[in-house]
This record gives sequence, structure tokens and C-alpha cells, in this order.
Amino acid sequence: MSTNQIALKNLVSMETLSNEEVLSLIKRGIEFKNGAKVHYDDQHIVSNLFFESSTRTHKAFEVAELKLGCDLLDFDVKTSSVNKGETLYDTILTMSALGVDVCVIRHSHVDYYKELIESPTITTSIVNGGDGSGQHPSQSLLDLMTIYEEFGHFDGLKVAIAGDLSHSRVAKSNMMILKRLGAELFFAGPDEWRTPEFEDYGTFVTIDQVIDQVDVMMLLRVQHERHDTYGDFSKAAYHRAHGLDQARYDRMKDHAIIMHPAPVNRDVEIADSLVEAPKSRIVKQMTNGVFVRMAIIEAVLAGRGAK
Ligand code: CP
Repeated sequence: MSTNQIALKNLVSMETLSNEEVLSLIKRGIEFKNGAKVHYDDQHIVSNLFFESSTRTHKAFEVAELKLGCDLLDFDVKTSSVNKGETLYDTILTMSALGVDVCVIRHSHVDYYKELIESPTITTSIVNGGDGSGQHPSQSLLDLMTIYEEFGHFDGLKVAIAGDLSHSRVAKSNMMILKRLGAELFFAGPDEWRTPEFEDYGTFVTIDQVIDQVDVMMLLRVQHERHDTYGDFSKAAYHRAHGLDQARYDRMKDHAIIMHPAPVNRDVEIADSLVEAPKSRIVKQMTNGVFVRMAIIEAVLAGRGAK
């Protein structure tokens, strides 16, 4: 058995993980990437319930679960009793009553998971696939795995997180854990998307002030679905002021990397031609998402005493 295997009851927020647990999940993800296998004698049923759109998180969890030999229980919001007014609590209560071991859930309500993990009746383990503009722990862990593979540590790394800060669960998950792991953080993007909560974690700058200093340039998607001012948004103006274009790319340190959780708004956060450029790790992030999610599901199954 790997020393990096851990046991978790649920995974809903990066705040609930110790630094040691974070490092174990990253290292276990790397072991899976290098071909580590697990075999369970018992059946484990997992259901992925996505109430908000997703490609990467939803499908990467599915691939991870299939690689672990789990049985997947399909859940389609559109054809479920959610359309008859069933609450999230009642949907998960039902999954629990049916014997589902793990529910991976994405939902627009921040902290939706609290009533689920506090329920004395719901025994299904909850993995948060993103709660509104709250947390996105599996994205954070795949980001950390990607940084760790590149640098082998976090302490002293300069990381800029740039873009739609206030709406980003990726920014909020990453700022807390990256600071706890010793990184120095900078935040860039439009003034109106900067909120005071970021002040405790780093320094507000412009992208031009830090692009030649950072080890990691982490770009955020402009989340039009969470804005009510979409009509006023100019893609070209955003790209000029805050996006990564060729001139800014050319100023980056030789060893610096570009990250983006994707989906990318091409020619907005990053020039179309740079999405797969040598410094970009955007495709690698997606690949790492499978392996770190294997580590997450394994940890939650271990928390349930899986054999
Ligand atoms: N990065 C991310 O969460 O992508 P999806 O919305 O496609 O899952």
C-alpha cells in the first residue's frame, strides 16, 4: 500500500485539508499518472450530479472512477425529479437510501454541501465539484499537482492569479492553499472584480507589473454566466488591459508557466495562439485532473472502509 494513500469522509473545501493531506493527494495523483493500480473486491457506486455545466470536471471524474473500477450511476438533472421540485437535499437523501457510496456534485449555491455533510441520515460521501463562486477543491488539487510536477515545491514561488477574481471558485480555493504552502501571491484584473477577501492573501497589481517576475501565471476565465453586465463587456479591451498576449508572454521568465482552469475564452484571457504554447500547462492540467481525482475518490472510498 502506498504511503500517500489517505482517508477522507468527504472532500468539500481545500480549507478542510491539512498541508500533509494535500501533499499526499498530489503525490498519489502522480503515482496514478505513473501507472499505479488499485483493485477493490467490493462494489463501489459513484454518481456525478452536475447542476451546472461542465466538461473537464464531470468527464475527468468519470474517467477517474472508471479507472478505479467503480460503477457509475447516471444522473441527468433534466430528466430527474428536480424538475418536479425535488430539493438537492432530497436528491442526495435518495442517493444515500439507494446505497450510492459517493456523490460528486456541482451546484450553483455556495456552500450547498453543508446541509448534506451535517445530515445524520445521509451516509453517502460528498465530493464538491464546484459550488457557485465558493470552492473547487479538485481543480485546486490538479493545479497544485501541475505546479508540484514543475517545481517540486511551493515555498517561495511567485504566483499571479489574474482575471475574474470575485466570481472565481478557482481563485478562492487556490489562494488559501497556495499561501498556506508558502507561495507569494499577486492578484491582477479589473478593479471591479477585486474584493477585499483577497487582501489577506496577496498583493493587488497589474499584469504588466508582475509578468516578468512570476513563476506561475494563473489566468481565470471571465465568468459571463455570473455577470449581469455582459452586454457592456469588450473582449478586445479586456485582452489589451488584462490578457496574456504575445508581448507579455515574451516578458515571462524562461522557466515560468501559464495555467488556466479552462474552458478558455480565446483572445480574451489568453491569445488563441498561446493556449498550447511551450510555457502553457493548460492541457497538462486537464490530464492531471484525471489522476488527482483518482486520488480523491480513492481517499473518500478509504474513508468508507473500502476493500
Ligand atoms: N475547469 C473546470 O471546472 O472546467 P469545467 O467547468 O469544464 O468542469
